[in-house]
Amino acid sequence: MHNIEQLIAQATAEFAGIDDADQLEQAKARYLGKNGSLTELLKGLGQLPAEEKRTVGAAINRAKDAVEAVLNVRRNAIKHTALEAQLAAQALDVTLPGRGQGCGGLHPAMRTLERIEQLFRSIGFEVADGPEIETDWHNFTALNTPENHPARSMHDTFYLENAPGVLLRTHTSPVQIRTMLTHVERHKHLDSLPEIRIICPGRVYRVDSDATHSPMFHQVEGLWVGESVSFADLKGVMADFLRRFFESDDLKVRFRPSFFPFTEPSAEIDVAFMSGTMEGRWLEIAGCGMVHPNVLRHGGIDPERYTGFAFGMGPDRLTMLRYGIDDLRLFYDGDLRFLSQFK
Ligand code: PHE
Repeated sequence: MHNIEQLIAQATAEFAGIDDADQLEQAKARYLGKNGSLTELLKGLGQLPAEEKRTVGAAINRAKDAVEAVLNVRRNAIKHTALEAQLAAQALDVTLPGRGQGCGGLHPAMRTLERIEQLFRSIGFEVADGPEIETDWHNFTALNTPENHPARSMHDTFYLENAPGVLLRTHTSPVQIRTMLTHVERHKHLDSLPEIRIICPGRVYRVDSDATHSPMFHQVEGLWVGESVSFADLKGVMADFLRRFFESDDLKVRFRPSFFPFTEPSAEIDVAFMSGTMEGRWLEIAGCGMVHPNVLRHGGIDPERYTGFAFGMGPDRLTMLRYGIDDLRLFYDGDLRFLSQFK
């Protein structure tokens, strides 16, 4: 009997010192398992005289109950501690400010293109589109650019390997040709051609890369063809557009004589701001001119009857000026610290 009391005391002490559920189950086995000490005692009952069997047997069973009871108390305590620890680890501080939704925004180059589209749509222009992989004919020949023109050289133009006469368009001007050809085709049953008034924003490619040049950049082409379109219209449209784009009524706009094979006369458009860090400096913004008769002819339009003006501008340049950005490469690095400023 003394032995049994000792076992209970020993088990109670041992269980109390255990903090781990698995270890507790192993300790349990040492008392109640197949070869546990209490089990061994039960096995020994057989050797006892009959009158002792009952009392000793009852004592062993009480001891088993007692050991089970302390075991359960300990089990619950360990479970409780584990739960407390888990709750503490997953504690939620509801007083912390929320993280918010990380929502994206339009790239500054796209914001500018959308703004340009919006301003030209407001004066009746439509938005046209054309392929970035172009034929030499659409990109150069139809635009009155002679075979030996420097713009065609390998230094400026990305030609496609194994595809003679195919290149990455160096400007959006081939869209002029494509637009004229489809426009003429669509309206060939009419006596007079409805006006063409389009802008074409898009990507263009040149072999060029530094702080202000990227091998891929954007242009916006514009074309207005009709029966009495003049250089005065060109000046009015562009000056008005630029003042609205920069939201500045005192923006100075000047047309400087220039040369493009596809326009005659041709001009470069410069702007100057009347305030801010760029005050008084002339900045080149676009090329423009009256569409060359040969270009109209390549587009299927009679130059004796119709005239038109065209312009091509660099919206990346406009974006840099509008937001005060001095390195074009920032546009294409994908650095969120830069981009998220425009959200
Ligand atoms: N295509 C010319 C360029 O890329 C720009 C331009 C377009 C000039 C239309 C005149 C008319 O430089």
